[in-house]
Amino acid sequence: MQTVRHFLTLKDCSPAELTALIERAIDLKAMTKRGETYQPLKDRTLAMIFEKASTRTRVSFETGMTQLGGHALFLSPDDTQLGRGEPIEDSARVISRMVDLVMIRTFEQEKVEKFAAYSRVPVINALTDMYHPCQLLADIMTWTEQRGSPKGRTAAWIGDGNNMCHSWMNAATQFGFTLNIATPQGYDPNPQVVAANQAQLHFFRDPNEAAKGADVIITDTWASMGQEAEKKAREKAFAGFQVTEAMMALAHPDAIFMHCLPAYRGLEVAAEVIDGPQSVIWDEAENRLHAQKALMEALFLGFPH
Ligand code: CP
Ligand code: NVA
Repeated sequence: MQTVRHFLTLKDCSPAELTALIERAIDLKAMTKRGETYQPLKDRTLAMIFEKASTRTRVSFETGMTQLGGHALFLSPDDTQLGRGEPIEDSARVISRMVDLVMIRTFEQEKVEKFAAYSRVPVINALTDMYHPCQLLADIMTWTEQRGSPKGRTAAWIGDGNNMCHSWMNAATQFGFTLNIATPQGYDPNPQVVAANQAQLHFFRDPNEAAKGADVIITDTWASMGQEAEKKAREKAFAGFQVTEAMMALAHPDAIFMHCLPAYRGLEVAAEVIDGPQSVIWDEAENRLHAQKALMEALFLGFPH
C-alpha cells in the first residue's frame, strides 16, 4: 500500500517540492484570473475540522475546493462528537473512510499527528499552537511574486515566538533564507524548533537591530488564540516591539511588510505601516486560496517537482 502524504509542517515536503508548489500556486492563480475552469477534484470531499476560530483559512479552503470541482464539509466540535470526547483515533478512522482529504485547526500539534496516524487520507495542518504551515505557503508565494526568490535573502520576525514564528523558522531552512528573530525575554520560540533550524537563524532582543537591512518585516498578534487571558500582560511585555514606520525605515529600502492577519493596529503594528505602501497583506491573504489549491492538488495528484 502506498503511504499517505500529510502536510503537518513544512518539513513534510522537500525544499524542491516546496519551491515547485509555490510555482504551481502562481500558475493556478493566473489560470483563475484568466477565468479558466480546472476541476481535478470533481466529486471529492474535504473535511474541515475547526476547533478554533477562522476567517481566511475557512474561506480559502472552502472556496479552493469548490474551484477545484470538489466539496468542503465544515465540522466544529460544537455540533459533532469531536466536542463530546470521542477519541481522536476513532474520529480519524471514521471520517477518513468517507472523505478524501482532511484539514484540521486545533490546539496541540500532537492532535493533528495522531489524527494523521489513524487517517487513510491526507491530513493538512490548518494551524496548531506550534505551526501554521499553510500560511507560510501563501507568505513565500507573496514574497516570490513581489520580489523574486527568497533564497539568500533576509526576513525579520518581530514579536512573539509563536506558531507563525516557528513556521517562518522552518521556511528559512526549506527555502534557504536568513531569519532575524526579535522577541521579548520569556516569549522566545520553542528550543527544539530553534535547534532544527539553527543555521538560518539570528536572535535579537532589540527589534530595531533585527529589522536592519531586512528584505521582509513580519509580525503577528501578541496574544494568539487560546491566550486571551494573557492579553494585558503581553501588551506590557511587548512594549517597544510594535512595527513602526521608524522600524521599517531601518529595513532594506525595498522591504515589504507581511502579517498573517487578523491584525491589531496600534499594538503589534502601526496603522501607517500595515495600511502603507510597503504592506502586501491583502495579496498575502488572497494567496491562501491559490497556495492551498496547489497543496490540495499535490496531495491528490502528486507533488510537482
Ligand atoms: N491567517 C489566518 O489563518 O487567518 P484565520 O485565522 O482568519 O484563518
Ligand atoms: N498566532 C496566531 C495566528 C492566527 C492566524 C494565532 O495562533 O492565533
